[in-house]
Order: sequence, then C-alpha cells, then structure tokens
Amino acid sequence: MSLGKRVLLNSGHWIPQLGYGTWQSSPGEVSVGVFQALKAGYKHLDLAKVYGNQAEVAQGLKKAFKEIPGLKREDIFITSKLWNSQHRPEIVEAALDDCLQELGLDYLDLYLVHFPVSFAKGSRNVGEDLFPLTGGNQPDGDVVIDDGVSIVDTWKAMTKLPKSKARSIGVSNFTIQHLEAIIKSTGVVPAALQIERHPLLRQDDLIAYCKDKNIHITAYSAFGNNMLDIPLLVTRPEIKDVAERLSKKTGSTVTPAQVLLAWAQVGGHSVIPKSVTPARILENFKEIELSPEDITEVESVGKVQRRYNVPYVANKPRWDVNIFGDEAEKPATHQVILSV
Ligand SMILES: NC(=O)c1ccc[n+]([C@@H]2O[C@H](COP(=O)([O-])OP(=O)(O)OC[C@H]3O[C@@H](n4cnc5c(N)ncnc54)[C@H](OP(=O)(O)O)[C@@H]3O)[C@@H](O)[C@H]2O)c1
Repeated sequence: MSLGKRVLLNSGHWIPQLGYGTWQSSPGEVSVGVFQALKAGYKHLDLAKVYGNQAEVAQGLKKAFKEIPGLKREDIFITSKLWNSQHRPEIVEAALDDCLQELGLDYLDLYLVHFPVSFAKGSRNVGEDLFPLTGGNQPDGDVVIDDGVSIVDTWKAMTKLPKSKARSIGVSNFTIQHLEAIIKSTGVVPAALQIERHPLLRQDDLIAYCKDKNIHITAYSAFGNNMLDIPLLVTRPEIKDVAERLSKKTGSTVTPAQVLLAWAQVGGHSVIPKSVTPARILENFKEIELSPEDITEVESVGKVQRRYNVPYVANKPRWDVNIFGDEAEKPATHQVILSV
C-alpha cells in the first residue's frame, strides 16, 4: 500500500508529509473522522492524550483495519504526545503505556513531549489530572506549574523508552534554546519537532536550526486555527488569489486550504490539517504544486508575524509560563526549566 510523499527521520523511520489532526475533534466526531481520513488515503495521524478523544480514535482505527481492504497497522504513521502532567521521569513510560492502552495499539511511530512545561503531579500515577489548578477546582485558577522537573529530566526519560513501544521520539512547542538544552545534556537529537507554523508564523530561524540538526518539522494550525476567534487564513484574499490563479491554470478547482497545505510542505515538512467535515477531509488530501511566484504571494500575508497558540494568553485555565519568549508572555512568572 502506498505511503504517499514521505521523509526519512533521523531515527531511520519514514514519516508521511501529510497527516490528519485530531485536536478539538469531539469524541463523537473523531472516530468517524479518522475512519474517513484513512479511507481517503491519509497514512499519518496526529493524536494526543490531552485531546481527550483517543479512545474514540481507537474505534475509528479498529473499523478502518476491519473495513478498508489491505490496510494494516504498519501502513499508518501514528503520533501521540506526553502531556504536561506526565513529565516526571518515573511516570513517562507509564504514561506511554496508558496512551497505547487508550489507542488499543502496541506501539506509536512517534511520541512527542507536547510542551516544554511540567504541570504539578496529577492525582493518579500517570497524571490523569491533566490540568491541576491553583485553588483546587476554582474555574479562574491558573494551572499549577511544577518548576522541579526540567525538560532535560523528561527528555532523558523519553530516550529510555523501549523502541518497541515508541519507534521515534521528539518534541513539540520547543524553541532553539530548549532543543539545545536537551541535545547538549543527552546527545540525543529529537527525530521531529512539531510547531505552530503558517504564513503568519514562518519560524525561519527554528526551521534552519532543525535542518542543520536533521530534525523533521511538522506544522500544526496550518490554517491559522486559534482560540481567539480570528478568522482562518483560508479567508485571506492573498491566499484566495493564489487558489483562483491555480484553478485557472490547471483547469480544476484549487482551494485556499490546498494552497496553505502545499505551502506548509515546501522544504519537506509535514503538515497535519484537522477537519471533521467529510468534504474537507477529501479536499485537504488533494496535493497541488506551488510556483515560486505562488509561494511569494502566500508569504505576503505574513508581513506582521503572529503566533496564535500562546497558552499564557489563549488557554483557559491560564498557564502562567513564558514558553516562546513572545511579547505577550513577558508578564508570566514562570520560565521553561532547562535543568534543575
Ligand atoms: N503540538 C501542539 O501543541 C498542537 C497544537 C495545535 C494543533 N496540533 C495538531 O495539529 C492539528 C491541526 O491544527 P489545528 O487543529 O489547530 O488547526 P487547523 O488544521 O489549522 O484548522 C482546523 C480548522 O480548520 C477547519 N478546516 C479544515 N479544513 C478546512 C478547509 N478545507 N477549508 C476551510 N476550513 C477548514 C476545521 O473545521 P472542521 O473540522 O469543522 O472541518 C477547523 O475549524 C491539530 O488537530 C492537532 O492534531 C498540535
């Protein structure tokens, strides 16, 4: 079975460039979405413990293996993520086991540290209390940050995970400084880095650093999805222009979403669009080629660069931590703990 366009990771495994995202897919929608995506031909799924829908993802997978002729586990690249309340080294493997159990799988293709931030100990061993709050369960409380666990501690535990359960390991939402810290302390270079990336947040320096270290980039929120009610990038006139021009040139409809996904993959990166809408799942799977002129026009949207996913600003409950060094995070009272 074809794996589509794919890239070799530094771990020796191949990752398909196009994947299917599952954040904000409700449990009721996600099993159908996963099944439809696999039926459409997607070979890469992006999951996470914190999305709260992995048990339903498992149902979609089960149905797909039963009903899609010839589809086998090894045909699909499956990523999931260690949540912030699971960073203490002694529970990292238990957290992976819990994740595999939720998904009904024997192994993940890629296991990522979701954020370079440790939350306080959850109420159960694997950190089931995903958002421990200051002031108990007061809705206005902040999440309790645990400054006693560093990203190096957690990364060391990740490097000890059996390859039979996590074929490749990587990180997400890490900056160059965070990557430097974990690589210097362990000598183990993450296979992949998953980051917010779209024309409004090109992350050129981080991309260049990762290219030098042979760390694969996966882009999330490629349509500019955000929790701030800002319209998606598919509505921007510059992106629509490119789509219209390509539609005329090729004689078949090219959509703004396809333009953004093609842009995200320039340079061999992966991208993981999320949709629970059947027509969009198909639309996002269709690949198109961009000319240098198209790329320039897409990038013209980003004269002012803008990060949407800043947990200090966007998340409720709030995380009082400066992760990215973004202007908006300056008042935060916690920093990422590189080592303790
Ligand atoms: N590592 C991290 O911290 C992190 C953070 C964010 C996301 N992610 C991963 O990346 C994935 C994608 O990012 P995302 O979910 O933030 O957002 P996204 O893929 O940029 O956008 C999703 C939104 O776009 C809509 N959409 C999908 N296809 C469309 C199309 N063809 N035309 C118009 N609208 C379309 C979806 O609506 P419908 O679903 O209603 O169709 C949904 O509202 C996530 O699902 C998750 O797996 C990771």
